[in-house]
Amino acid sequence: MQAIAGTRSTSPAYPRMSAMTQVAPQSAHTTLTDQRVLILDFGSQYAQLIARRVREQEVFCEIVRHDIAVDAVLARRPKGLILSGSPSSVYDDGAPKCDPQLFQLGIPVLGICYGMQLACEALGGRVESAESREYGRSQCYVVDAEDPLLAGFPDESEVWMSHGDQVSEVSDEFRSLARTDTCPFAAVKHTSLPVYGLQFHPEVTHTPEGKRLLANFLGAVCGCEGTWKLGDFAAEVIENVRRRVGDARVICGLSGGVDSSVVAALLSKAIGSQLTCILVDNGLLRKAEEESVVEEFTNHFKTDLHVVNAGDRFMEVLAGITEPQEKRRRIGAEFIRCFKEEASKVENAHFLAQGTLYPDVIESGAAPDGPAATIKLHHNVGGLPDELGFELIEPLRDLFKDEVRRLGLELGLPEELVWRHPFPGPGLAVRCLGEVTEEGLRMLREADAIVVGEIKAAGWYRATSQAFAVLLPVQSVGVMGDLRTYESTIAVRCVSTEDFMTADWSHLPYDLLARISTRIINEVKGVNRVCYDISSKPPATIEWE
Ligand code: XMP
Repeated sequence: MQAIAGTRSTSPAYPRMSAMTQVAPQSAHTTLTDQRVLILDFGSQYAQLIARRVREQEVFCEIVRHDIAVDAVLARRPKGLILSGSPSSVYDDGAPKCDPQLFQLGIPVLGICYGMQLACEALGGRVESAESREYGRSQCYVVDAEDPLLAGFPDESEVWMSHGDQVSEVSDEFRSLARTDTCPFAAVKHTSLPVYGLQFHPEVTHTPEGKRLLANFLGAVCGCEGTWKLGDFAAEVIENVRRRVGDARVICGLSGGVDSSVVAALLSKAIGSQLTCILVDNGLLRKAEEESVVEEFTNHFKTDLHVVNAGDRFMEVLAGITEPQEKRRRIGAEFIRCFKEEASKVENAHFLAQGTLYPDVIESGAAPDGPAATIKLHHNVGGLPDELGFELIEPLRDLFKDEVRRLGLELGLPEELVWRHPFPGPGLAVRCLGEVTEEGLRMLREADAIVVGEIKAAGWYRATSQAFAVLLPVQSVGVMGDLRTYESTIAVRCVSTEDFMTADWSHLPYDLLARISTRIINEVKGVNRVCYDISSKPPATIEWE
């Protein structure tokens, strides 16, 4: 029985360029995180989405294991608990359960889908496979408009259901707050305990009033005042970094991506001239990428920036290599060598700053009491091994990507950089299929600049998550003037996604695609054919490799 459509993707995990080896102690930002909510993860693909929705309400939250000990919960003094969905059924053998004591602590609980079924079952109800399963949109009717959870909720509204089980009976101590045509207990409340349940998903955008519902739970029910402010967070991190670093130097690897740029900007505010940034130009960067990093961090932030021009070294190790994993491995190893050499020139450097984000911490299983490690599907952090001998500073390890972007803007980074699409660590090598050659990189770089430039000019960049060109290792016949050509093919890839684990190809307008194609064929010498990739992930991946 499946509660939420879709499973974790089966795409292969990327070998990390290095493992995230050191785990900082639990967030030290005590003042801002005093009012926290815990999200118990029962294996739902939506746990991180719930957490982001909670943060949007300016309430700090943490994702924890479903079987977290009651003492560990109490030690965090949470204002509320949210129980996520799960792909299991509560009556399955080995179904993930939480300690039923949690419902008796007087801490408000909101069970979502499986979380609700679990709460109702633990408190005397019955869960059954529903006669009619509900997947997708349903009309929801309010039964009890007086309850604070439903304050301001319209009498009738659309909600997103995704379940095969539903609560068939609740004990006398529960009452229904809302129903759908097939589900009499779409929202429930315990009469004497602060325990709520929702059969639908308030965290997804398909439940338009979901945001209000979560806001009601966090505010009216849990008493959270919305104290989680990014500006204050930045001030606190800056203070902590200053204290920790003293008069030592900190090294920060810059990639041109959002995360490392925000880390560098934050540290530059914290310790100014004690920061040294290192950008390894591996020759696999996009057009004008190095220049824009240099402009931002030398001219704007006045950082001590070392650029290592190592393009030739990378071309040497990549010569003759066509196998994608081997390319990745060699690029990773060469990157570490280059970084190490440059870092060894920096005197009094004790710390290494990295742009590890909260999803990385969660997915690697490194969060205290957090869920077990999941398959790491993508990673864009330029992790470095601890053999370098530095202490790690990871100022973004409590943040989600959208929070990092907002923080970047607050720190004065330009929109252009903050909203940059992700770019893989091994760079254009994963988009230059087969052997990576100077000639291939030239074509790819030019074509990529046209793709991104046209998508930006048409106002589509922010509406898409990743847009780029791929150089295919095939040549085909074409005609130019009176001449037959035998040249390369560029594939254009443009996708929309929330989490990069699943993605849809973007339905770009034909005239935009036509402009991209015409320009690439006219302007990029050596290309006579352009294709648009219309595959979703899964089963395809975003990168072609
Ligand atoms: P796929 O291709 O698996 O990619 O759909 C998902 C996300 O991960 C990025 N990606 C990488 N990032 N090193 C990285 O740092 C890599 O080797 C790598 N491969 C894929 C990809 O660009 C997308 O954002």
